[in-house]
Amino acid sequence: MRILSGIQSTGQMHVGNFLGAGRQYLDYQSQGDFFLMVADLHALTVPQDPNKFREQTLNKVIELLAIGVDPEKCTLFVQSHIKAHTELTWILNTLTPISELERMTQYKDKAKSHKDNINVGLFDYPVLMAADILLYKTEVVPVGQDQTQHLELARTLAKKFNAKYGETFPEPKTMLAKEGAKIMSLANPKKKMSKSDPVESYIGLTDDPITIEKKITHAVTDAGKEVRYNLAKKPEISNLLLIYSLFSEKSMESSEKKFRGKNYVSFKKALSELLVEKLGPFRKKYQELKNRDLYVEEILKQGERKASSIAAFTMTEVRKKMGLLIF
Ligand code: ADP
Ligand code: TRP
Repeated sequence: MRILSGIQSTGQMHVGNFLGAGRQYLDYQSQGDFFLMVADLHALTVPQDPNKFREQTLNKVIELLAIGVDPEKCTLFVQSHIKAHTELTWILNTLTPISELERMTQYKDKAKSHKDNINVGLFDYPVLMAADILLYKTEVVPVGQDQTQHLELARTLAKKFNAKYGETFPEPKTMLAKEGAKIMSLANPKKKMSKSDPVESYIGLTDDPITIEKKITHAVTDAGKEVRYNLAKKPEISNLLLIYSLFSEKSMESSEKKFRGKNYVSFKKALSELLVEKLGPFRKKYQELKNRDLYVEEILKQGERKASSIAAFTMTEVRKKMGLLIF
């Protein structure tokens, strides 16, 4: 089974990334032929500082290794190292109706927050993502809920290509975590937790204990008292309870029971302690890897070798099927 996922290079990985996507990476790397890429070209669709960008890409690889992504079990690589991603994007562009891209909610949101830079790349983002997936004839794509609309487009484009040029690409399945596919921001329960939002709105996987405690203490809650799961009436506490239940690997029922009759302050204290305990090992591994550039580089070179040979194979097939001149 071919599995592939990606994560943008910028920003700090947070508990939302981990619960929605990271846990699935760890499961899938032992279950099939898993490809995991750092999507640096996707990150370029919003302004980036070239002096920091390289560092951020490396940092994202280190964060992935720190949470337990194992280069012996999966192909870990950087998107821009495989040029075929952009080549296949161009080809898929010729099959993509503009109207399909215009209805993408992520595009609409990002266009709103980057009014001064609504570039073609931002618009074409989902086609690049479809190319990432189809290039490796991926069958399963583990992601968070925010990516489901992009995955639909990848399936549409696979079908279109197959219908026009002959059976080539499997239709990739979206794989969401049963619980935690959409963890909400600590500052606003209507928005998903995002690494491009202000740091107080998320718990970074490598945050230190004091930062974790501060962020949880300041996380917004309603004016009530009961620690109870009720998404409609208590979205903030429900989000925190979900994080508690997933990290403690206890059911929601037993998590609620644990805090019955307790106030928000003691619940938040218990949640901070749990996160400090569970994220501690990630932070330790991250610090260990921080000074091992050569080791990380070697992993990426190995990933590039494997990814590029598969990508080249697909592209030869695509070029032939489309009638591009080949000698
Ligand atoms: P972000 O949106 O925070 O910048 P990415 O876009 O790089 O993060 O997402 C990496 C992975 O994490 C994707 O599979 C995405 O769906 C998932 N993800 C991102 N935010 C959340 C969240 N708040 N809850 C669950 N999964 C998430
Ligand atoms: N767009 C995804 C996100 O922001 C990251 C991504 C890029 C990805 N290419 C991918 C995810 C291919 C899955 C498959 O979360």
